[in-house]
Amino acid sequence: MCGIIGVTGADDALDILLDGLERLEYRGYDSAGVALIDHGEVVRVRVADGTHSVATLRRDTEAVDQAFSTGIGHTRWATHGQPNEANAHPHLDCAGHLALIHNGIIENYAEIAEDLVAKGHTMTSATDTEVLAHLIEECTKVEPTLTDAVRRALGMVRGAFAIGVVSASDPELIVAARQVSPLIVGSSGSASYIASDIPALLDRTRELMVIEDGEIVELRPGSIRITDAEGNEVPGRPLDVDWDVEAAQKDGYDDFMTKEIHEQPRAIADTLRGRIGSDGAIELDQLDISPDELAQLRAVTIVACGSSYHAAMVAKYAIERWARLPVDVDIASEFRYRDPVLDKSTLVIGVSQSGETIDTLQAMRQAKAAGAHVIVVSNVVDSSMARDADGVLYTRAGPEVGVAATKTVLAQIVALELLGLYLAQVRSTLSSQKFDDIVHELFELEGVVEKTIERDPAVAHVAQELAHAHDYFFLGRHASFPTALEGALKLKEISYLHAEGYAGGELKHGPLAVIEPGCIVVAIATGGEMKEKILSNVSEVKSRGATVVMLAEDGDELAASLADYLLLVPAMSPLLSPVKDIVPLQQLAYHLARNRGLDVDRPRNLAKTVTVE
Ligand code: F6R
Repeated sequence: MCGIIGVTGADDALDILLDGLERLEYRGYDSAGVALIDHGEVVRVRVADGTHSVATLRRDTEAVDQAFSTGIGHTRWATHGQPNEANAHPHLDCAGHLALIHNGIIENYAEIAEDLVAKGHTMTSATDTEVLAHLIEECTKVEPTLTDAVRRALGMVRGAFAIGVVSASDPELIVAARQVSPLIVGSSGSASYIASDIPALLDRTRELMVIEDGEIVELRPGSIRITDAEGNEVPGRPLDVDWDVEAAQKDGYDDFMTKEIHEQPRAIADTLRGRIGSDGAIELDQLDISPDELAQLRAVTIVACGSSYHAAMVAKYAIERWARLPVDVDIASEFRYRDPVLDKSTLVIGVSQSGETIDTLQAMRQAKAAGAHVIVVSNVVDSSMARDADGVLYTRAGPEVGVAATKTVLAQIVALELLGLYLAQVRSTLSSQKFDDIVHELFELEGVVEKTIERDPAVAHVAQELAHAHDYFFLGRHASFPTALEGALKLKEISYLHAEGYAGGELKHGPLAVIEPGCIVVAIATGGEMKEKILSNVSEVKSRGATVVMLAEDGDELAASLADYLLLVPAMSPLLSPVKDIVPLQQLAYHLARNRGLDVDRPRNLAKTVTVE
């Protein structure tokens, strides 16, 4: 996820870009840059300074003593290529006349780059975006206008994008386009604007319009022309905005946690994007280990902390079932100190949204020293873990502001299951029918999670009813066991209520002793095979007076008949179920915390990134 902004027809384009980028930092901040048009030249400034990138960009442009009226700006959250200056946007064509900013992922960038390099283009970055700048340059050779060249180029790319393009040869023009990734345009007086999101423009104008998928926009001073994919002019759809800037950064939601819960379908889609070919085969290009070496593996060990550990636990069930490899999942802080037995026949996977958690980082270093091939599943490109590991598999959830992990966890499960399927592919452990079925379900996840999120009012109602409860037990079995652990962690983390997660089969071995009237048992009765067993556990706790919140699949009348409160989710196969089952548990924690008047984004005593032991 990145932030883009552009303006033409203003007296102070640079200030507009810098102010807008500051307000878009919640979309990404590992690097930032601007490109402005000055007397037939493109003036570009880019920086990569971690969380300070936009502030550094402002400082570095203070010396620029010129007034510009047209320019584009970008703040980046890397998905392809490290967050360094060379990879920062805007990207230029070979001639340096055309500059481009992009939010999204160009899936077929590698094949386009190969073709362009053969035609004599020189790439200076490791991004998918730069390829598009050169492709448009190539198209300008056969098209009469920049807009036509952009339209032709976009016809050749697959993926998600919102782009803004400026050219020294038409100095007052910005061409922008959208496919999947968000894009708005606005105007005030002679100034015309583009941005990926409302906060970037709110202090300049409230006359905003949404650009739809497939549309291309030409912006000039005092004019905005929107056309569809065929080039027909279409009317803009006005946006009615009565938010202030802070509310707009949260997309109108009350807090970042709600916003990030709603971003989960996108995080899943982006994490899958470009990794499953049109023939259904999985392509993971940054693992830095050959299919032959993967086929020779004897075991997998996954190290992680907190919610990432729960995502890893889900992956254990999937990798063992699909790839027939033994999987050990370890809490990183324990792994570090227990002298684990490892060698190069073990693949070690670190899982960490931040890529900085000290225990996971040290566990990975130890595994590497023992000779294991180490990869990391991380949401932050070029994080410490990504630099240390032999290979990487990035989740693409975009920055997460809320301390409680939500969208990053779902993206981790999806990425790890993709990896499990890739292992099955290279080891030929699944029939092609089974493999295709799982791929099909992976693609369904985005829609299923969206549907699940929409059921929030039912969860809010249950939370209201449970206002006086203080003790929660989350029960799950098989791949729903980690779901139970995640539900309990989310609840205690943001509502400060006592909550424990248990494997249902463990109930009789101790915890049943504390079940009494007043206890709330949240039973995850989804995912097929173990459902009956969870329902037996439910009978056991009900007969001891517990109140049961049942998470069950649509149409499951037996589960419904045993529930005091029912939360319904769409049905999916057991190994993918956690991805959508975690959603109502996030929402339950959220509503219980909000009902107690707590700040869900900044729970007490906790930090987003834990870089100390
Ligand atoms: C819980 C949560 C934490 C993190 C844990 C690991 O909501 O966010 O439990 O999952 O601190 O962090 P990362 O994934 O950055 O290694």
